[in-house]
Amino acid sequence: MADPSTSHLNPVVDATEETDAFDALGGLYEESARLPFREHLEHHSVRKAVGDVTGLDVLDLGCGSGLYTRRLAAWGAARVTGVDCSAGMLATARAVERARPVGARYVRADATRPVTDGAEGTADLVLSVYVLCYARSERELTAVLTTARRALRPTGGRLVAVTLNPDYGRGTAYYAPYGFTLTQPDEREGAPVTLDATLPSGGRLHVTAHWWSRDTYERAARAAGFAGTAWTPMAVSPRGRELLGDAYWSAYLRAPQALILEATAL
Ligand SMILES: C[S@@+](CC[C@H](N)C(=O)[O-])C[C@H]1O[C@@H](n2cnc3c(N)ncnc32)[C@H](O)[C@@H]1O
Repeated sequence: MADPSTSHLNPVVDATEETDAFDALGGLYEESARLPFREHLEHHSVRKAVGDVTGLDVLDLGCGSGLYTRRLAAWGAARVTGVDCSAGMLATARAVERARPVGARYVRADATRPVTDGAEGTADLVLSVYVLCYARSERELTAVLTTARRALRPTGGRLVAVTLNPDYGRGTAYYAPYGFTLTQPDEREGAPVTLDATLPSGGRLHVTAHWWSRDTYERAARAAGFAGTAWTPMAVSPRGRELLGDAYWSAYLRAPQALILEATAL
């Protein structure tokens, strides 16, 4: 039976035959959290962008292996729900929850599917890290943002998303010093952007996102019912600067691969 508290998310019913590009990647995404740009820049920037979550009801949309779902619980959120369409990613998230419980609940759902029951949202905050850029069309982008909007309480709720910076550094090797490459064949809206990374364990990430302009993100957010949007650059933590030095970060910061997109419900 559907969990009434997440019934607005339209869970995927039959998952047995489906596989997904992310299904085998749960362990690698856990490991990728230790890449310097994720640990010292993204984590720090997301922490700052979400602000004080103490006592909040928070949804991690496209939670993957539950990295941020667990962090949100550790940061003090009262209720954390992770949603993802990948059975494999959720299997990792649930295994970590069983081994080190933080009270996170995980729901399998496709965020591009329309809301079916019209339930009012209850979340104070939706966090969505590297998910919007996997939308394959503006329609899908709008649909994911609509799911985020509907999950939020009617007023005062906020979406904090990390997504591909439309102005990221072009040239496949630009981010090689940071442990990954990005390849994009052309500059049209929705063009594929393939990320390749070899992690310290030898495991390889190879995933394809899509390039969307700022205008497209902003139009999709408006169409989804968000009142305003703001883009925020990432910042390196003091520890990251101390450990790796300003010279290490300078190329990344000139053209960060990701930005934070905030959208307010009203
Ligand atoms: C790059 S991973 C990021 C995972 C996690 N947020 C993190 O930062 O480690 C993108 C995740 O978004 C999920 N995802 C992409 N599109 C989705 C959709 N339409 N509905 C639900 N999950 C989606 C994928 O299954 C994958 O787990």
